[in-house]
Amino acid sequence: MSEFVKIAFGALAAPKGGTYVIFVGADLKPSPRVAALIGAAGTRLESAAKAVHFRGKASTAMDLVEAPGLDGVRLVIVGIAPGKDGKPIDFANLGGYVFGKLGAAKKAAVAFVAPEGEWEAGQAAEFALGLRLRAYRFDHYKTKKDNGDEADDAAAAVTIEFESAAAARAAAAPRMAVAEGVELARTLVNEPPNVLYPESFAERAAGLKAHGVEVEILDEKAMGKLGMNALLGVGQGSKRGSRLVVMRWRGAHARKAKPVAFVGKGVCFDSGGISIKPAASMEDMKGDMAGAACVVGLMRTLAARKAKVDAVGVIGLVENMPGGGAIRPSDILTSMSGQTIEIINTDAEGRLVLADALTYAREKFKPRFMIDLATLTGAILVALGQEHAGLFSNDDELAARLSAAGAATGEAVWRMPLGSAYDKLIDSKFADMKNTGGRNAGSITAAQFLKRFVGDTPWAHLDIAGTGMSSPTSDINHSWGSGWGVRLLDRLVAEYYEG
Ligand code: BES
Ligand code: MN
Ligand code: ZN
Repeated sequence: MSEFVKIAFGALAAPKGGTYVIFVGADLKPSPRVAALIGAAGTRLESAAKAVHFRGKASTAMDLVEAPGLDGVRLVIVGIAPGKDGKPIDFANLGGYVFGKLGAAKKAAVAFVAPEGEWEAGQAAEFALGLRLRAYRFDHYKTKKDNGDEADDAAAAVTIEFESAAAARAAAAPRMAVAEGVELARTLVNEPPNVLYPESFAERAAGLKAHGVEVEILDEKAMGKLGMNALLGVGQGSKRGSRLVVMRWRGAHARKAKPVAFVGKGVCFDSGGISIKPAASMEDMKGDMAGAACVVGLMRTLAARKAKVDAVGVIGLVENMPGGGAIRPSDILTSMSGQTIEIINTDAEGRLVLADALTYAREKFKPRFMIDLATLTGAILVALGQEHAGLFSNDDELAARLSAAGAATGEAVWRMPLGSAYDKLIDSKFADMKNTGGRNAGSITAAQFLKRFVGDTPWAHLDIAGTGMSSPTSDINHSWGSGWGVRLLDRLVAEYYEG
C-alpha cells in the first residue's frame, strides 16, 4: 500500500462531487459511455476548450468546474491525441500526468475509457503504477509544507473506473509490487547519511525478511576472513563499520537453476576520502548508494510479486571518509580475488567496493549472470547526461536484453565499448592494476577495472551516476532519488528469466 495515494478500481459511475478525470482525443469527444455519464456538461466542453486553446493533445489538460448538471464537480479533461513525436500512449506516464493534475484534490475518480477503441486491463494497471510513482514524496523531515501550511499527510484516494474492474485489479497487483520496490529504492537514496549509513542500511535491507527474502549481513570481521581488503580499505577511514548484505529470493520451481545476481555499489557517503572532493554539490554524495538501493528495491519487488526466479542481491556498504586511518594514494590493497590494486585516487572507491562484491557473488553463487549497478563515474554524466545509463558488458545477449528492457520501461541504457587498449590504461607500475586510468575515457576504464573481477561470468555494468540521483522531474517521478533500475531489471527478469 502506498502511503501517499490509495488506489481502487471500480465500475464506471457518474461523477458525484470531487475531481473527475476523463480522456479525449483531438476531436475533444470522450467515449460515448463517458459522454452519457457527464451529460449536459459535455455540451460545454467544446466552447470551453476553445477559450483555453485546449486541443486534446497528449500532456495537456483542461479543467471544467461546476459545469451544468455537475454541481460541486471539477471535471479534468485530459488529452491523449499523439503529439509531434507520434508516440503511442505510455500508460504509466499518463497515470503520473493525471496524478499531477489532481493538485490538492484528496478524492478523485478517473473514467479510464479510451475516447475511441478500447483500453485493456493491463493498461489500467500500468496507469495505476505511474499514478502511484508520481504520488511518492520524501518529506518526513519537513515539519511544514513549502507554502508554510501545516503538513498534511493524508493520502489521496483515487478510484480508477474501468469496465472490468476485477481484471484491472488482478493486473495491478504485480505492478504495485514494482511500485513498492521503486519507492523503497527512492527512500534509501533520499535518506541523509547520518540516518542511513552501512549498518542502518543493512538493517533496512534485513526488513526484506518480512517479505520472504533470505538476508545475511557480513560485518568487517567476516569480510576480513574472506580477504575483502578492497572493500574494507574504502571504509577504513570512517567511524562507521562496513557491511556486505546478501539477499536471496528463491522463487524458481526448478530447484537447481543457477541464480541471477545483482550487485550494488553502496557508498553511503562519498567525501572522496584523502583525495577529497570539492565542497560544491558534495551533499549529492549521499546518493552514492543508488546502485545498492536499486538492488534492495528489486529484491523487494521480486518477492512481492512472487517472481518465478532464483535471484541473489549483493550490496557493498561503506562510507568513504578521510581520517588518520584512511587509505591513501600509493597504498596497495589485495582484493578477495587475490589481485592487487594500487590506489591512485581514493575518490575512485566504488570500483574497489564492487571488486570484492562481484568476486563474492561469482565464487559463492556461480550465477547465470551478474549485473552491477553503480553511481560510478562523473564521466558518464559528461557522455550521456541524465537520459541514459551507461551499459558495459562482456555478453552481447545480456546487453541486448537490457537494451530491450530499457526501451520498454523508459529506463534507457546506452551501450559503451570495452577493449584491451582501454584495459591497458589501468596497468600499474607496482601492482596488478591501479584504481584510476587518467583523464580520458573515465567511465570505460572504470568498467575495465570491474571486468577484471568477473572472470567468464556473463556480466553487465550499469553506470547510473546520471540516472540514479538528482533526477530531472518526469511524469512519474518528482523525487531526487529516482529508484532508477528497479523497473528495468524487473522487466528483464520477467521477460527472460522466469519460469
Ligand atoms: N561517486 C562518484 C561518481 C559520481 C559523480 C556519482 C557525480 C554521481 C555524480 C565516484 O566515486 C567518483 O568520485 N568518481 C570519480 C572517479 C575519478 C577519481 C577517477 C569521478 O568521477 O570523478
Ligand atoms: Mn568517489
Ligand atoms: Zn563514489
